[in-house]
Amino acid sequence: MAQGEIVAGFLAPHPPHLVYGENPAQNEPRSQGGWEPLRWAYERARKSLDELKPDVLLVHSPHWMTHVGHHFLGVRNLSGKSVDPIFPNLFRYTFDLTVDVELAEACCAEAAEAGLVTKMMRNPNFRVDYGTITTLHMIRPQWDIPIVGISANNSPYYLNTKEGLGEMDILGKATRRAIEKTGRRAVLLASNTLCHLHFHEEPATPEDMSQEHPQNYDGYKWDMRIIDLLRRGRTREVFDLLPQFIEEAFAEIKSGAFTWMFAAMGYPEIPGELHGYGTVIGTGNAVMEWNLVKAGLTRGGGVLARAG
Ligand SMILES: [Fe+2]
Repeated sequence: MAQGEIVAGFLAPHPPHLVYGENPAQNEPRSQGGWEPLRWAYERARKSLDELKPDVLLVHSPHWMTHVGHHFLGVRNLSGKSVDPIFPNLFRYTFDLTVDVELAEACCAEAAEAGLVTKMMRNPNFRVDYGTITTLHMIRPQWDIPIVGISANNSPYYLNTKEGLGEMDILGKATRRAIEKTGRRAVLLASNTLCHLHFHEEPATPEDMSQEHPQNYDGYKWDMRIIDLLRRGRTREVFDLLPQFIEEAFAEIKSGAFTWMFAAMGYPEIPGELHGYGTVIGTGNAVMEWNLVKAGLTRGGGVLARAG
């Protein structure tokens, strides 16, 4: 089997409002639109993803919370209805998805080998969380690429940020080894919002965009500082700033997906492509892409990928 590789990583946040704004057949509530700049950012990301032709999409979601260990979806077909507990008025989504169980098992085994507590999720009636579904729907609404879903152990909350993100670094590197060994052409999706300070009341019409703006100016400035560095490929600097950013902007990347993705990619110092930025109930959301093929960091690019 040819060695697999990661071809790209995306920062792909999951406000359910974006699905609500799109009015897909799978979602019950109807909207008049809303959050267009972010939804159009996802449209651009979809085009890139399509050109990459991955075998599998791996997503780490903060809203599949597992208190003991890092869990992996382990049932070939999962279907049902997923409801956002905070916004059931916006997100009641009928899902039907296919899991790359072989790769999920390899990720689980590699992470266990590296010392993490891991578990395969084998419940055939499992209700997949809205974070996983929103990110996947927004990046690939056709649902025609198998996925690997990874839970948030939330160790950065139970331990401390440094220790918890240390676990995510291990999980990322284990994910990379599993991808390489199973021969997959993989895309990683970090399902995270940046500044997570938000409004506590919803407008009467949730998609009334006259009410949508950053909840906190300092949080907005933090988002711009981080995005600016990411766009210039200054990855190391971003990770140096991460604990302070998390603390001051209540950034959702604390839950680990962002670190997991960068660890898996080998923390490349390459410019990220910003597809778009927008707020959702005041939180900051960026859709960004790190295309390792374009950067020449894949075997297809003629340069050996950096060892993770
Ligand atoms: Fe979230």
